[in-house]
Amino acid sequence: MGAEKLLIRAARVSDASDLHELHARAVDASCRGHYSDDQVQVLLTGRTAEGYLPAIERDEMFVMESDGCMVGFGHATQGEVEAIFVDPAWAGRGVGGALLEHALRLAARGHEGPIQLKSTLNAVGFYEAHGFVEVGATELDKHGMALPFVLMERRGEPPAERRGEPPAERQESDDEDRPRPVALDAYDSMAEAYGAAIEDNPRSIYYERPALLGLLPDVSGRRVLDAGCGPGVMMEWLLTQGARVVGVDASENMLKLAEQRVGDAAVLHVADLEQPMPFLADSSFDVILTSGTLGYVRDWLAVFREFSRVLKPGGCVVFSVGHPCSEYTLNETDDYFSTELGEYTWRGLGAPIVVPCYRRPLSHMIDPIVRAGFSIESVIEPVPTEEFAEVEPEEYAQLMRRPGVLCVRVRKPASGT
Ligand SMILES: C[S@@+](CC[C@H](N)C(=O)[O-])C[C@H]1O[C@@H](n2cnc3c(N)ncnc32)[C@H](O)[C@@H]1O
Repeated sequence: MGAEKLLIRAARVSDASDLHELHARAVDASCRGHYSDDQVQVLLTGRTAEGYLPAIERDEMFVMESDGCMVGFGHATQGEVEAIFVDPAWAGRGVGGALLEHALRLAARGHEGPIQLKSTLNAVGFYEAHGFVEVGATELDKHGMALPFVLMERRGEPPAERRGEPPAERQESDDEDRPRPVALDAYDSMAEAYGAAIEDNPRSIYYERPALLGLLPDVSGRRVLDAGCGPGVMMEWLLTQGARVVGVDASENMLKLAEQRVGDAAVLHVADLEQPMPFLADSSFDVILTSGTLGYVRDWLAVFREFSRVLKPGGCVVFSVGHPCSEYTLNETDDYFSTELGEYTWRGLGAPIVVPCYRRPLSHMIDPIVRAGFSIESVIEPVPTEEFAEVEPEEYAQLMRRPGVLCVRVRKPASGT
């Protein structure tokens, strides 16, 4: 591919007009000679930038960039490569092949069997060179004119793992320089045990979860990001409420469990919340839920700025985090006013496991949220429900006197930043 730095990232709403223009240039340059002038005209007719938005919203489209300029894009759905387009100025430089590999990985998510596509006549050789075979012919009706396409299939494994693969730009960038999430190894190693325990964990179901879920707006039909989704218990609940859900977690093992739980009903990404998440489009979520995860992240300003970028205006973040008061006491620190990396030893999940975690004062929670442009709508210091007393009387008595978690809802302004 030469020395250019090429990145693949998810398409964003703000890409729509570039997609539209590149698409027209590519069709114009590549289809002539294979279709009549009238047919090419029909292929170009009736397209608008807005026409790309639904597929962008569904996370089906991705773009390749060189130094911030779009050089190609692709579109894949489950089991099907819908489109690959390369800017004519970048033809023959490996862009199409890289986009196709990415499309194949997306199309293979949760899909068994061959990947299919409908090729324009000009692109048949390109797809054959990447392992597709012709399986038939079809005609597609475009504005009343029947245009010939070739039906093709590719069998065998996709180019990399099926799901949860790191976004392509991470593979090509300075990954090694990035700090590893502090709790990643701990969560990776206890994923199975955590996943088995969390669903019915009394502290979750009779204490933290009711308070947290009570802060959520109606999520039916809403696009919700579960940030630090773990084994997917919250995602499963969100899906039952009719939400469209995307889950992000640093731990691949957790995401495997989440995938077992929710199947293809949610889109999952391996990602560190402390890093940018360019695979999530700007202004594309109504709600972000993050349950029990922010304690493992040092830089809340980076996280809340990224949350603000991906939230629609007027969208909200609902989160739970260890209460600064109890964390202060548990960590036996004598410096309340600093953010410190401590650790807890978890004993209830098989062999004891040390889990690193940040403790911070209340001001270090509020400041970054406000600086990222959010307003704080609701802060709850929950107490356990009565059921908790029946199953864990000692912990119940303690939580009635000493706080364990904070549950908070913050909102991005409806207009402006
Ligand atoms: C206590 S679990 C909560 C899981 C889930 N939200 C729940 O309520 O069951 C914390 C989760 O945060 C994830 N995590 C820790 N650090 C992270 C980071 N920097 N970026 C993304 N996820 C992270 C862990 O892998 C783990 O799944």
